[in-house]
Amino acid sequence: MRRHTERLLLRPFAEGDLEALHSWDTNPAVVRYLLTGIADLATSEQRLARRIANTALPRHEGERIHFAVQLASEVVGVRPIGEVNLDLISAEHSCGEIGYVFDPTYHGKGYATEAARELLRVGFDDLGLHRITAHCYPENHASTAVMRRLGMREEAHHVANEWLKGEWADEGVWAILEHEWRD
Ligand SMILES: CC(C)(COP(=O)(O)OP(=O)(O)OC[C@H]1O[C@@H](n2cnc3c(N)ncnc32)[C@H](O)[C@@H]1OP(=O)(O)O)[C@@H](O)C(=O)NCCC(=O)NCCS
Repeated sequence: MRRHTERLLLRPFAEGDLEALHSWDTNPAVVRYLLTGIADLATSEQRLARRIANTALPRHEGERIHFAVQLASEVVGVRPIGEVNLDLISAEHSCGEIGYVFDPTYHGKGYATEAARELLRVGFDDLGLHRITAHCYPENHASTAVMRRLGMREEAHHVANEWLKGEWADEGVWAILEHEWRD
């Protein structure tokens, strides 16, 4: 599945994306607020294999679609600048969850917000979801800013809820409903 935005192409991951994925996996600034730590090459290979497998819209609970994000102006298949994912959290309650990671070289240009906005469209239009959430450490200000720009609302602030990089971290839960997104 592919999706175009004004400046971006969201496409399936491919074998050639290992170098990009591994560069994010080994960048302390990128993994700072991710549960994953610095990855060796074999771990990145496994992570890429999972991404290559997750190319279909999630239809069952626990399934996920991954998109590699590249600049639309470039040839299809060139090095991605980031990734976004959409998980089906509950089929019964039509709930999904999004996530995003971008190469620091491409931060501060609005690309993460643009890609995540398209992901909300996939969730609400293609999957017919009722509600989409995102989880984030409140001190990850760049990520909370993305969710705010998307029109999401912070609904919960769990205190010392996750063990992150050797210490307890607070966790924020953000959400947007389908009718709010359409408005
Ligand atoms: C979270 C993350 C994706 C946010 O990236 P980001 O670059 O800050 O977010 P965006 O791509 O939406 O860019 C927004 C910035 O681009 C600026 N911008 C510049 N040109 C723009 C344009 N043409 N359109 C929109 N915004 C533009 C915005 O003003 C904003 O700047 P600001 O941060 O000074 O307010 C990034 O920090 C990241 O990958 N972190 C590591 C992984 C991670 O923590 N993921 C989230 C886990 S919850």
